[in-house]
Amino acid sequence: MKRVIAVAIVVGVLAIVGVLGGYYVKTHFPNVGPPPDIRVAGTPEQIARGRYLAHHVTVCLECHSTRDWALFSAPPIPGTEGKGGQVFSEATGFPGTLVAPNITPAALADWTDGEIIRAFANGVNKNGDPLFPLMPYRAYRFLMTEDAEAIVAYLRTLPPIDHKPPRSALNFPTNLMVHTMPQAHPPPEPIDRSDPVVYGKYLATIAGCATCHTPHEQRQPIEGMQFAGGFQFFLPNGKIVQSANITPDMETGIGHWQKQYFTSRFRQFATEESKRIPLQDGMNSVMPWTMYAGMTDEDLSAIYGYLRTVTPIRNAVKRFGE
Ligand code: HEC
Ligand code: HEC
Repeated sequence: MKRVIAVAIVVGVLAIVGVLGGYYVKTHFPNVGPPPDIRVAGTPEQIARGRYLAHHVTVCLECHSTRDWALFSAPPIPGTEGKGGQVFSEATGFPGTLVAPNITPAALADWTDGEIIRAFANGVNKNGDPLFPLMPYRAYRFLMTEDAEAIVAYLRTLPPIDHKPPRSALNFPTNLMVHTMPQAHPPPEPIDRSDPVVYGKYLATIAGCATCHTPHEQRQPIEGMQFAGGFQFFLPNGKIVQSANITPDMETGIGHWQKQYFTSRFRQFATEESKRIPLQDGMNSVMPWTMYAGMTDEDLSAIYGYLRTVTPIRNAVKRFGE
């Protein structure tokens, strides 16, 4: 009997500690500070740069539009740009149901420019509530101020779409842990765009190449495996695709690729027809090839130049099948 009481007391105390701990985390985090006090002018140059980034580099409109999974690389369906509603479900490996919100002016009209930048650079919404890092704020935190402002300028010009997708619902304990994920950080350093390797690294970061092409363990990138591929993705039809090894390893990576071959692998998807390639055997890629295809030769070359400088890693990856 005494043992039962002792166990009951321990369980009770643990439950109270758990509830208080959860309450503490929820009320004290995230703590990323106020949004920057910025007013974006919205010049034609800013809008053009923001359009380029949102469609072809940071590919905001990959996730925040409706993708057509019946076509190769699942291009966004025209007319859905920014409307949100794309679901990332438990069945495809997420810790709950994540839903991309509407980011057209219909949804962001009452957000300040600073609040929008804080959302994609620090990972909290207008109210300061945390966003799950599927929203790539860990990469976008490196966006130079001028590029962050350009993205806001462009989002403000998207045709407003009146659509209210359901909100994300994370499972326990991720629904608590997510509060500790958004981070405050010093403003990003300006990048020397005249140095192609530096600029290539910047582009590869904000384009998410590093995130998808580095294998993960328990949702953390595996140290020493940067760009070595093998990150598994579940397609909506249940099939699996793994990211390629894009380190300069000669046998298992892209060490033998010439620059021209690299850039043309992307540019081949720049035509209208390439946005309508039917699937073979249900196999698809999660990589938004048709969106990256709009990158300039100069930017693709910079990414290539940077990838030549990373450590070659021997890691044979079977991209499709199995
Ligand atoms: C890989 C997919 C993905 C990409 C790429 C992406 N987002 Fe998101 N974004 C999301 C998801 C999912 C959420 C919701 C996260 C959650 O509910 O925890 C989100 C949330 C947001 C929010 C918060 C909106 C709200 O109502 O709470 C903003 C603003 C936003 N994203 C803007 C952007 C911008 C700007 C870019 C490009 C620079 C971008 N996103 C790129 C998936 C993505
Ligand atoms: C959403 C995840 C994702 C992102 C973001 C992504 N990739 Fe990929 N990538 C993949 C997957 C999965 C494959 C394997 C399937 C395929 O070939 O499309 C792949 C394949 C490739 C290949 C083909 C390699 C070969 O052997 O044919 C190259 C090159 C590549 N990616 C480079 C990049 C670069 C550069 C970026 C950033 C601009 C990038 N990827 C961003 C997921 C991603």
